[in-house]
Amino acid sequence: MITSELRERIEKLANRYPRRESALMPALTFAQQSNGNNLSEELLHEVADIIGVTRAKAYGVATFYTMYNKKPVGKYHIQIDTNIPATLMGARDILKHVENTLGIKPGETSKDGLFTLNEVECLGSCGTCPVIQVNDTYYENMTIEKVDKLIASLKKGVMPARETDYNYASVCNVLLKNRGVANSTSIEVYKKNGGYKALAKARGMAPADIINEVKISAIRGRGGAGFPTGVKWGFLAKNTGKPVYLVCNADEGEPGTFKDRQIMEYDPHLLVEGMAISALALGCKLAFIYIRGEFSWIADILDKAIEEAKADKLLGDIDIIVHRGAGSYVCGEETALIESIEGKRGQPRIKPPFPAVEGLYGCPTIVNNVETLASVPYIIEHGAAEFKKFGTENNFGFRIFGISGCVNKPGTYEYPMGIDFDDLMKAAGGVKGKLKSAIVGGLSVPILTAEELKGLKMDFDSCIKHGTMIGSGGIMVINDEFSIPELCLRAIEFYAHESCGKCTPCKQGSKTLKQALKRIVSKKGTRHDLDTALRIVNTVPGLTLCPVGEAYSIPVKTMLDKFRPDFEALINN
Ligand SMILES: Cc1cc2nc3c(=O)[nH]c(=O)nc-3n(C[C@H](O)[C@H](O)[C@H](O)COP(=O)(O)O)c2cc1C
Ligand code: SF4
Ligand code: FES
Repeated sequence: MITSELRERIEKLANRYPRRESALMPALTFAQQSNGNNLSEELLHEVADIIGVTRAKAYGVATFYTMYNKKPVGKYHIQIDTNIPATLMGARDILKHVENTLGIKPGETSKDGLFTLNEVECLGSCGTCPVIQVNDTYYENMTIEKVDKLIASLKKGVMPARETDYNYASVCNVLLKNRGVANSTSIEVYKKNGGYKALAKARGMAPADIINEVKISAIRGRGGAGFPTGVKWGFLAKNTGKPVYLVCNADEGEPGTFKDRQIMEYDPHLLVEGMAISALALGCKLAFIYIRGEFSWIADILDKAIEEAKADKLLGDIDIIVHRGAGSYVCGEETALIESIEGKRGQPRIKPPFPAVEGLYGCPTIVNNVETLASVPYIIEHGAAEFKKFGTENNFGFRIFGISGCVNKPGTYEYPMGIDFDDLMKAAGGVKGKLKSAIVGGLSVPILTAEELKGLKMDFDSCIKHGTMIGSGGIMVINDEFSIPELCLRAIEFYAHESCGKCTPCKQGSKTLKQALKRIVSKKGTRHDLDTALRIVNTVPGLTLCPVGEAYSIPVKTMLDKFRPDFEALINN
């Protein structure tokens, strides 16, 4: 039953959006939170009625996103991710230990109704895996001892405080500048350290000059594809008579990626300032931050920062809405993300039209990554020429590299583009054990062997020359204690789970591939399974509506190609 307070909260939110349906997802989340983390049918109907959508539509949305608990869960919903970085960092032992301690398997609830356990996908916290999410709270860097303490505390009805012991370093001192500064999320501290000077400067510039400065900086988007930001902004449809929207992509869903979180959690005003400048340049009055639903405390930090900036009259007539996702990797794809803000299932649209012409609510829309937008204040305050002093030709600027897996100090490291892979390994405390391979741009890029990693420089063009991509800058380091076929299976399990189901080659291809690899890894496979796997990864690219078809074919194909003997050994056995 929705209380009058909650109804008011939903109404307030619905009124901020250009269309009420956009508030459907956050409203479902608030309703679920108000009901012990359970989204009953009755609640779902009530939310649909308040928002003014059909109950069938609300049901369609609630069944698409994994974070809505349609089946009842216990008082403490324990979720443990076992994606590749987590597996490399001991999460499977943690999961087993929790299973044994609680006497339940993933998907089950304890008889006393206290605990529900689930094995889940990457939580955007790979540098601090193993991670246990209890309801909305992350417990990171988990060990067996910490698990025992956590469960003992939960049994007493106490949620322990979060520990935030992360490794980080910055040689550029821009994106992680305020990391480690006390109270870094407050506007006073941000301003004391030089914050909002760039916005003041931008207010004295013509919008075309802001766009031009970003164009000259030649910054390439940090979300994955590396498209030049100034060029993208130049594609924005002009004089349409429609509003223009700016959307910040904070979905951080690519396994191995946990960099945007560092900016939002510790320096939210840097993103708010970057968005305000970008909105001025683009003529946008309403901007959005689409943040993955699991980062609920970070969404609160952003909400507070936006309120502070408004109270300080820094945003003028620009408003920024923090829109919370609800568990879907595909919603990181820009058109799926737009569908999701519109309050729909997060399924990609056919392109063209591209968002810059017809995006959110059918209006011209620019979608940029958190790190891209957080780089804008530096470019405007210091000028494109200063920005270009970092990095290499055609790959200018700084970047946050998220390093996880088999290294001694997994964490986030801000370096100029073009830094040597080996130097990054040194920054991360060195490789643990003998380096076997690495995936250097988030899970969806080709794997490189230890030999291929020699001489690699971490920028867009050098990575391409080395046969891979820098993508989201999430580097997963693998040592020789791990089986590539097992990691390959874990990769395809992820994509099969996340496929939105809109096109058959992706939906069916990923499922069939998963089955073939499962048989191979469990030593029940035949040569036919290997042939099937190869046929799928060679056929699917180019046949799917969005890049997810390639996103799974490429890493799996390169694992099959480069580590073929490891797969064949399992078949011959
Ligand atoms: C399946 C999929 C997931 C994606 N996930 C993200 C994400 O979590 N964050 C992000 O910024 N971009 C993600 N992208 C890329 C976005 O579609 C888009 O290109 C990006 O946000 C543009 O920002 P940029 O130009 O600043 O890089 C994803 C793309 C695909 C195909
Ligand atoms: S490729 Fe996969 S994720 Fe993308 S639209 Fe098709 S089914 Fe959905
Ligand atoms: S958060 Fe554990 S794998 Fe990414």
